[in-house]
Amino acid sequence: MKNYIEINKIIKNFNDEINVNGDKSISIRCVLLASQAIGTSRIYNLLESEDVLNSLKSIKKLGIDYKKSNNCYIIKGFGLSGFKTKKKVNIYSGNSGTFARLVLGLLVDANNQITIKGDKSLSRRDFSRVTEPLKKFGAITISNKNYLPVKIHGTKFLRPIKYVERIGSAQCKSAVIFAGLKTPGLTKIKARKSRDHTEILLKNLGVPIKVLKKKKYDYIEVNGQTNFQGFQYVVPGDISSSAFFIVLTLLSDNSQLIIKNVNVNKSRTGIIKILNKMNAKILLKNQKKYKGEVTSDIHIKSNNSLNAIKCPKNLNSSAIDEFLIIFLVAAKSRGISTFKDLGELNKKESPRLDIGVSFLRKIGVKVIRKNNDIKIIGNPKLKLNKKLIVKNFKKDHRVFMMSCVAALTLGGKWKIYDKDSIKSSFPDFIKLIKILGAKIN
Ligand code: S3P
Repeated sequence: MKNYIEINKIIKNFNDEINVNGDKSISIRCVLLASQAIGTSRIYNLLESEDVLNSLKSIKKLGIDYKKSNNCYIIKGFGLSGFKTKKKVNIYSGNSGTFARLVLGLLVDANNQITIKGDKSLSRRDFSRVTEPLKKFGAITISNKNYLPVKIHGTKFLRPIKYVERIGSAQCKSAVIFAGLKTPGLTKIKARKSRDHTEILLKNLGVPIKVLKKKKYDYIEVNGQTNFQGFQYVVPGDISSSAFFIVLTLLSDNSQLIIKNVNVNKSRTGIIKILNKMNAKILLKNQKKYKGEVTSDIHIKSNNSLNAIKCPKNLNSSAIDEFLIIFLVAAKSRGISTFKDLGELNKKESPRLDIGVSFLRKIGVKVIRKNNDIKIIGNPKLKLNKKLIVKNFKKDHRVFMMSCVAALTLGGKWKIYDKDSIKSSFPDFIKLIKILGAKIN
């Protein structure tokens, strides 16, 4: 089977309403929390992507049963001390940094050695950012702590820690919160702003967790060893998947789109704030509260009067997965856009800052880079009329999808490799661009 797609035509004149797949961050957290709950949890609209399916297979190896019935995953936990392993276990996280890092937090009390492995991309990403704080909880043995495979052997003798999380990584913060759940006493975390789904879910489950939000940092206190019951959850649409359709619509002629029922937690909507500062006029309608989260329909229209942005650094964390697609909008805007302090992008599924800059240069956009800051010289008339091949991007799903949006809005004859990469986060991506009129070979 060929693993590339060819796009030779732009799309325009669409007027549709779509649903994107379930939120990946929330799906993985639901699976992990259901594995620690007492009794049965029912999770509806769980994202059925490789990252989440690998999470399910992994909890099964750790002794937690699940089954699927209609649109619902039923997971049966035994409470906080409930992973059941009789011998050494290997679990495979595939491409998912979120699962691998968060599950480590829950394994601080594992009574056998657990080895976590990942695919090639995940195996080049740093794990010391989670293993270092986890070691502070007590006599946990962790080997090969910088890169996967990581082996962890837990202990029942844990003590709470005080920890300052300085990167703004929700994965590190959540791993420490999860370890805190297993520990007697109060774990205190000062964490630079990042997505807060873990805290919201735990609060809803009745776990004693306090969060004090200040400008740059959140102050979190979690009291460990409080069991919680199985729960029901309906996973909303993923804003990070919606991002590709938001930009596809903005940059296509004479088009409009409604994306239904998307999670619009403030710690995730940096893309909307950034694009609206660029004059995109994206609207959030039909907003609803759901278990401490907010969902909304997102309304987008074509827009050919987009302006450059001087992107405020405080929006970096709430748009952390969206910068590739935001760069594309900057390339089609009037003026020079600036983005600063984007070093974290190079620590994702691929070195996204390096890849984003070389992609823009390849399509003829002038980019000035100084360390982790970039300036993009926009051109609202940007059109392409040549052959382009996109390959060797470490199979990063977001590079693939951004390239498809570029092909569908800028023109040219494109061959884009590693189509299978979308299976990790957004399996319906190709089906949905076809609904909007994309012709794909
Ligand atoms: C995620 C956190 C972010 C994000 C990733 C998902 C999460 O990573 O990039 O796609 O679900 O916690 P970092 O915590 O490393 O910034």
